[in-house]
Amino acid sequence: MSFQTEYKKILSRLDATLTDCVPIGLPERLSESMRYSLLGGGKRLRPVLFLSTVSVYGKTPSDNDYLCACALECIHTYSLIHDDLPSMDNDDVRRGNPTNHIVYGEATAVLAGDALLNLAFELLARACACDAKYVGVLSEFARDSGALGMVGGQAMEFEQETDVDAVRLNKINSLKTGKLIEAAFVGGAIAADRACDIEKWRAIARSFGAAFQLCDDLLDSDTDERSLVAVLGTDRAKEELLRLEKETEELLDGIDGDTEFPKSIASAFLLRVTDGL
Ligand code: IPE
Ligand code: MG
Repeated sequence: MSFQTEYKKILSRLDATLTDCVPIGLPERLSESMRYSLLGGGKRLRPVLFLSTVSVYGKTPSDNDYLCACALECIHTYSLIHDDLPSMDNDDVRRGNPTNHIVYGEATAVLAGDALLNLAFELLARACACDAKYVGVLSEFARDSGALGMVGGQAMEFEQETDVDAVRLNKINSLKTGKLIEAAFVGGAIAADRACDIEKWRAIARSFGAAFQLCDDLLDSDTDERSLVAVLGTDRAKEELLRLEKETEELLDGIDGDTEFPKSIASAFLLRVTDGL
């Protein structure tokens, strides 16, 4: 099966689960606001990484695995809604569409984010009720998305001084972007009963996460002067991206399983900006 066919196959089941996961009977504006961002055309990278990690070990992802994958996308979506708010990055456009608060207003956008975060843990609790091993997935997701993870990285970004250096920016990126990628890989290993490989997946996540943020910054037309790309310069940033992508593939070779699909994800998503280098 080609990479695109396999990715689309995962997406169709994932999108069906995501569409069903927002409860009915919510206040109408809140429900619309949650659905607007959750079903609004993201790449679904984190849930696909989670499910593909489960599959590396020859396990077909179960309904519980799909609940966890959806939970991860709910956490990611809430983080984007809040990140775009006027008090944070103050962005009007995401994925080519007006941001959530532009369409529904700030108060609803804050609440939609809150509700998506709570929904994520409700979905995880449903998986835990069926099989206790998902408690490990829930704990990993909670830690990686919280104050020691993604939220902590966002806080560091807003606290930072004007004279930024590469070491600090790498730290911020490893938390605000890297930790949810880590949740996907490590959670997938736990769901596949391969907790013994967790440290290997953390190393893979470190390379992949750093490369993904670099790629995102390189694709951003108006380079933030406090981004790693601005500090390194475009050419060095692209070289670093190539190095990290290669490192990701090499680290995937160290996993005892079929890592062809995660490797294809790495090259498809990380090498989007290095053609012709
Ligand atoms: C955007 O993430 C924010 C970053 C952490 C770089 P994605 O590029 O995965 O966003 P969507 O969900 O595909 O829009
Ligand atoms: Mg931001």
